[in-house]
Amino acid sequence: MRLPGLIDPHIHLREPGATHKEDWDSGTSAALAGGFTLVLAMPNTKPPIFDAATLDLALAAARSKARCDYAQFVGAGPDNASWGRRTARAANTDGTPVRDGKGLPRGAAGLKMYLDSTFGQLRLDDMTLWMQHFQNWPKDMPIVAHAESRSMAAVILMAAIYDRPVHIAHVSLREEILLIKAAKERGIKVTCEVTPHHLFLTQPPSNPPLNSQNLGEGKGVGGGRWEVRPRLATQVDVDALWQNLDVIDCFATDHAPHTLAEKDGENPPPGFPGLETALPLLLTAVDSGRLTVDDIILRMHTNPRRIFNLPEQPETWIEVDADARYEIRAAEMKSRCGWTPFEGWKVKGRLHKVVLRGKTAFEDGKILVKPGFGINVRG
Ligand code: NCD
Ligand code: ZN
Repeated sequence: MRLPGLIDPHIHLREPGATHKEDWDSGTSAALAGGFTLVLAMPNTKPPIFDAATLDLALAAARSKARCDYAQFVGAGPDNASWGRRTARAANTDGTPVRDGKGLPRGAAGLKMYLDSTFGQLRLDDMTLWMQHFQNWPKDMPIVAHAESRSMAAVILMAAIYDRPVHIAHVSLREEILLIKAAKERGIKVTCEVTPHHLFLTQPPSNPPLNSQNLGEGKGVGGGRWEVRPRLATQVDVDALWQNLDVIDCFATDHAPHTLAEKDGENPPPGFPGLETALPLLLTAVDSGRLTVDDIILRMHTNPRRIFNLPEQPETWIEVDADARYEIRAAEMKSRCGWTPFEGWKVKGRLHKVVLRGKTAFEDGKILVKPGFGINVRG
């Protein structure tokens, strides 16, 4: 079965700053191994990506290492809300001069606003800052908000006030999907994505595969593996997502790799890897009649391309063996993080081949393009 190259608008690579978890090479290899030919990287790296200098830092790493196509988000911070206008401050916190923000938004995938707490330092509490970002960020460039529950209601109000689109990251709750549905019905320019883990997993302890097989018996062992933002929700929430599939514009992995030592240690960071499990999980849902292949193409290619203004990738497609059954194994994955919350899950539908811009980039488990093959689609 041939599908278009998949687009993941929400992944975390850990470069700069934490390449022991993932870098542009391992992360884009994981993307290809998952059927993704284009990924949009989030800005909560170390340092975070929030101005021209830090964007250059991420893009320099990407230029030499990426194996699939990409673009990089910039983060909304307290000091950079004057996008495209004269910068208000004379210097960055480290003393380097602030460059005029002009042109910067166009070189980025979009603006990411962290309005609730999660991994990393980027978070905006003051709503007057949200307002400045909404006013100044170009209307034809994407804004993505990490905004849960009532913060989501607030950010949708801002989209209505400033009459511009906003894309809501990783929707997980019944109240959230119903709010987005109501906002869409009233013509507010809101779109949203849902992750596979919020479609297939509920709050522990109701996830027997992880608890019984992978986590061991030790007290607290594995508890940290469940940490993810937004948190896994209840069965009622999961059911509401499936019942409102028509409200969900994209499936995005929120690939957020952390090592097992980190997940099982003190203060486990939130996040699940997801690039290499999304497609087989969703194809398995097709097999059991919960989805159609067209549902997948719409949410993993057509809609992300439109919402994020992404160019067509010529001569690009993926090939899937829809009948192949296998068990998900982290040991076979390209991601550096070395684990998956779906370890041992039986799936039906396996990625066979990825052709990217005319070149076979992945075939039967092997990556066939070199670091640097990927291009910046905002370049
Ligand atoms: C993400 C990460 O680790 O970068 N963690 C997560 O639980 N999803 C951050 C995020 O997307 O909120
Ligand atoms: Zn994320």
